[in-house]
Amino acid sequence: MCGIIGYTGASQALPILVHGIHTLSYRGYDSAGVSIFRDGALIVRKDKGRIGDLAPTWSRIELAGTCGIGHTRWATHGEPSQKNAHPQVDASEGVALVHNGILENDIALREGLEAEGVVFASDTDTEVFAHLFSRNFDGDPIAAARVLLEKCHGHFALAIQHHLMPDTLIAVRRGSPLLVGLGVGENLVASDVLALVGRAYHTIEMADEQIAVVTPESATVYDKHGNEVEVERKPLDASELTVGKEGFPHYMLKEIHEQPERLYELITARMDLQHDHVRLDDLGLDDDAWRSIERVDLIGCGTAHYACFYGAYVLEALAGIPTRALQAHEYDARLPVIDDKTLVIAVSQSGETADTKVAVDLAVSQGARTIGVLNVRESFIGRAVDGVLDIHAGREVGVASTKAYTSMLTALLLLTLRAAEARGRGDEIVGRLGRAMRGIPQAIRQVMLSSELIGEVAREIHRANNMLFLGRGADATTALEGALKMKEISYIHAEGYAAGEMKHGPIALVSWEVPTVAIATAGPWRDRMIGNMREIRAREGLVIAVAADDDDDAPKVADFVLPVPTVDPWIAPIVNVVPLQLLAYETAKRRGCDIDQPRNLAKTVTVQ
Ligand code: M6R
Repeated sequence: MCGIIGYTGASQALPILVHGIHTLSYRGYDSAGVSIFRDGALIVRKDKGRIGDLAPTWSRIELAGTCGIGHTRWATHGEPSQKNAHPQVDASEGVALVHNGILENDIALREGLEAEGVVFASDTDTEVFAHLFSRNFDGDPIAAARVLLEKCHGHFALAIQHHLMPDTLIAVRRGSPLLVGLGVGENLVASDVLALVGRAYHTIEMADEQIAVVTPESATVYDKHGNEVEVERKPLDASELTVGKEGFPHYMLKEIHEQPERLYELITARMDLQHDHVRLDDLGLDDDAWRSIERVDLIGCGTAHYACFYGAYVLEALAGIPTRALQAHEYDARLPVIDDKTLVIAVSQSGETADTKVAVDLAVSQGARTIGVLNVRESFIGRAVDGVLDIHAGREVGVASTKAYTSMLTALLLLTLRAAEARGRGDEIVGRLGRAMRGIPQAIRQVMLSSELIGEVAREIHRANNMLFLGRGADATTALEGALKMKEISYIHAEGYAAGEMKHGPIALVSWEVPTVAIATAGPWRDRMIGNMREIRAREGLVIAVAADDDDDAPKVADFVLPVPTVDPWIAPIVNVVPLQLLAYETAKRRGCDIDQPRNLAKTVTVQ
């Protein structure tokens, strides 16, 4: 949830650290800080707030130096504040340390240190590492780092400076990602390869339980016993990683517009239309394996969980496999019945979501087959599952997920077609839906043409405090995702429901000041949705319909119609969510919200 950058070389460290923090801010951004070695001491500057506001207040003269560490934080232990921002230091201020992850036994360790006379200056778990490192340092950084690995439970990535080692960075990894970047006469550490672009030419991905000692000339990696280990140095191809806004005012808008292209690539890579076959052989599930599966559990969080809902509809209805969609963070609480006939599919954009990883670990420990539907194959979850279906959305920077969601839905539909094929249900379905899927990119392009109209609707609703989103069938999922997008970036309280639920309670909320978005495209549920809209209008509610562009009734029962082209009802959720993404975007823009970095949220939630 946080970001780490460290630099040692011949250049001034401050601008490099600030740039790195900027790049990593999508991971969390409630406070930021740096520590730089200067004249025998570590100078620390940090505070609550965003790096764009903080960095101009830091003196380049005070922070002149060529070795330092930086951090951007998303608070877990202790509120966002100056004292809780990283770097954290030990009592003598001879050690500065930045941390991603969670120290699980921090209370016990803190009490132990306090009993030895240590006075803590912050509420963070991170400070424990700083004191422990300092107290166990006798000139050998590897020995001190090994103590951290021995005594500290949980998962963490650490970058450490010691004032007696002016040009040295010490990196420690357990669980949370950490890389060393190798440049020319300079080296770096970072929690994400993006922060290394522009300076490093090669990277070393640290493995769990490893320690790296990094100077301008060398980077040496050790295991938890202190033995030097062989590491792979991978070339860093910056062209694959650099992500700009490409003329769009926000990443979110750019990512919404990328959807046709990303989905086209995913579908064409996986659908062999000549033979009505889905190419998913790399998942390691042959026909027999698919036939032996008795239940599928789809697990994810947030938007990925809503993608799971969709996956459960299609897997059960089209492939005939009993399937349920579960919130990953509730999985262990259910004490689920799992065996080798259970397929657990973890859905995650980042592949690093802690809740989802814990649920995967449970599934693996109980003998389930596991698949990851992921946007980052080389990730925490990617390494834990038996096979990965790469959703191929490309790097998503906006905190509100858009293109990853439609790619997850598409990937889950492909998976469903493959399962249907293997279980003898594919003859008609694979050809029909496979062909229909080819129309998704064009249908989304057509939705984009309504951007102006969506902007007008946003103008109408942007002062609302509450909203409802309704859909039926697989589009009940679209309603949930539409509501989540709206609340995440515009801060309007929005609830999504399967529309059949209205009369069982939520209709009490309907009033002229609560706009309702109703997804009523062509398909088995369209008439009932028209009925829902009538009921809302009868109670003076403002209705925004997402309806087929040739639907003559929708304009009669809705105040606004966001038109979408007609596609197969099983595919419609992939298209119907797009006007809702745009509506959330346009509404947030009119409310002056920070669209790419909404308050309190982080792109990747690496703590439970
Ligand atoms: O990286 P993941 O897909 O596992 O993330 C899961 C959720 O944290 C994520 O979808 C979150 O709900 C987004 N902010 C949604 O826009």
